Amino acid sequence: MLKKIRGLFMPILIGGVMIGGIFILFSGGNGAGNGPSQSPSLANVIVPELSLLAQQGEELFNVNCAACHGDNAGGTDNGPALVHDIYNPGHHPDQAFVRAAITGVRAHHWGFGNMPPVEGITQEEVLVIARYVRELQQANGIATLPHDMQ
Ligand code: HEC
Repeated sequence: MLKKIRGLFMPILIGGVMIGGIFILFSGGNGAGNGPSQSPSLANVIVPELSLLAQQGEELFNVNCAACHGDNAGGTDNGPALVHDIYNPGHHPDQAFVRAAITGVRAHHWGFGNMPPVEGITQEEVLVIARYVRELQQANGIATLPHDMQ
């Protein structure tokens, strides 16, 4: 009898410890911006003098994107800074912005979760937003790099 219980109990115990460990691992990765896998929140994005188009983009961005991507695309706890090397035009061209906004994004770079599609946004509006983000990127020294992710 005792043997039988132990035979059942041990795998459950070991399984429980393993699941617990995995849970801790994953919830650690979702912490509020302090792990190396998190996109750094850029509190002080340099904001250049924006072109007229980029000013329109800023307005659209503030309504549709800033809740997650932050003021001046500097990031929040809900989404990454777009003023970040990884989003340079070589790795994420404007079409990636259109795709992200229209169809959403499955989490793959960070631990923020998925980006849902942005309701009611048009391709033209996203391209104007992209103009705004590009001018911010440029002012913050983010240059076009070839797409060389593994
Ligand atoms: C509800 C939160 C939320 C909103 C609103 C949001 N995003 Fe995102 N976005 C995210 C998250 C989270 C990611 C990161 C996904 C990942 O892990 O790579 C992301 C990623 C992206 C990416 C990178 C796509 C890729 O291919 O890796 C772009 C570009 C982007 N967002 C643009 C926008 C634009 C433009 C808007 C507004 C029109 C917007 N987002 C609104 C949460 C949001």
